[in-house]
Amino acid sequence: MVESHKLTVAEVVAETADARSVVLRIPGDRAEAFRYRPGQFLTLRVPSEQTGSVARCYSLSSAPHEDGALKVTVKRTADGYGSNWICDNVCAGMEIEVLPPAGVFTPKSFDADLLLFAGGSGITPVMSILKTALREGSGRIVLVYANRDERSVIFADELAALGREHADRLVVLHWLESVQGLPSQAHLRTLAAPFAEYDAFICGPGPFMDAARGALKELEFPRQRIHVERFISLGGNPFEAAKPAEAPPEPEKPTALSVELDGAQHEFSWPRREKLLDVLLDKGLDAPFSCREGQCSACACRITSGEVKMLNNEVLDSEDLADGIILACQSIPLTDDVSVTYE
Ligand SMILES: Cc1cc2nc3c(=O)[nH]c(=O)nc-3n(C[C@H](O)[C@H](O)[C@H](O)COP(=O)(O)OP(=O)(O)OC[C@H]3O[C@@H](n4cnc5c(N)ncnc54)[C@H](O)[C@@H]3O)c2cc1C
Ligand code: FES
Repeated sequence: MVESHKLTVAEVVAETADARSVVLRIPGDRAEAFRYRPGQFLTLRVPSEQTGSVARCYSLSSAPHEDGALKVTVKRTADGYGSNWICDNVCAGMEIEVLPPAGVFTPKSFDADLLLFAGGSGITPVMSILKTALREGSGRIVLVYANRDERSVIFADELAALGREHADRLVVLHWLESVQGLPSQAHLRTLAAPFAEYDAFICGPGPFMDAARGALKELEFPRQRIHVERFISLGGNPFEAAKPAEAPPEPEKPTALSVELDGAQHEFSWPRREKLLDVLLDKGLDAPFSCREGQCSACACRITSGEVKMLNNEVLDSEDLADGIILACQSIPLTDDVSVTYE
């Protein structure tokens, strides 16, 4: 069970009429637990009279180099419970229960040229990636940023300032629905065409992400250079303690598991009814995860031999599956030998 932490809210910033940034103070003794990579997210516990609590993920819009504080930016979802609760109730001095950073929506190299697509609140992880790349990398960066109208553009001033400061490396292409209509696949393909050698990162509403992915596929971007982050609400609640499962009989021979993680190779015996992530955490490996429900993709890895079955998958699409990507938190083995890699 991942450990949650109570953090104090240092500040709440009204970014637009319907988006708030929540800045969390990290005490010195938690600095290690809250070290993060740009593009990662926190999971917040939102109290609820109905259910005790709900868990909601919010990407970090701060960048690791900025200072000790962590910032998430929450946009109200129409009729949404968690986002409206946060925007209406969170204030400076309040304590919030939070799971440490997780997620795999992060560039391998900040020296690569980056093509970033953000729609609405999808700017949050993209902003963190962009600021880090400008500070630590050397590549060129193109941001295609779609919004309903001018007033709903989160971080408009900060982006304008970064554009002036890094005019040689950063181009921001704003798309306003109120002026240009919804961005179609054809529109996005035209915008992306000059940057077909860049690494692409996409985050935003479902139709926007579909259009951006479709555009990149038409431009023959290889799958490995397209990274997506889906904003969904967790159905389960990782803050509630897992119920102890009754130990089932384990008649079958365990699978021989080979795992490559953080540059090291590990061999384990994998009981046929256990999920891959549970085995790795039991063995003391620092395997990534967040929701443990097949909903966030923080635990994604690649199968290089053998077969597994996923008990639930709400994030990987057919292309991911064709590439051998699996969710460790939902995978049980089907073959006598299985090899996976997190590289
Ligand atoms: C990796 C990741 C990163 C994300 N990053 C961001 C981000 O940076 N910014 C951002 O704005 N969003 C982000 N999201 C989306 C965010 O997690 C939420 O999905 C979003 O804010 C909508 O949540 P909501 O509760 O407001 O809406 P909904 O999930 O639509 O709320 C409705 C749900 O709440 C339940 N509900 C209603 N009332 C209650 C009640 N009283 N008690 C308990 N349950 C109730 C309903 O049954 C229904 O299931 C991210 C999501 C993911 C997975
Ligand atoms: S931890 Fe979220 S999908 Fe596996």
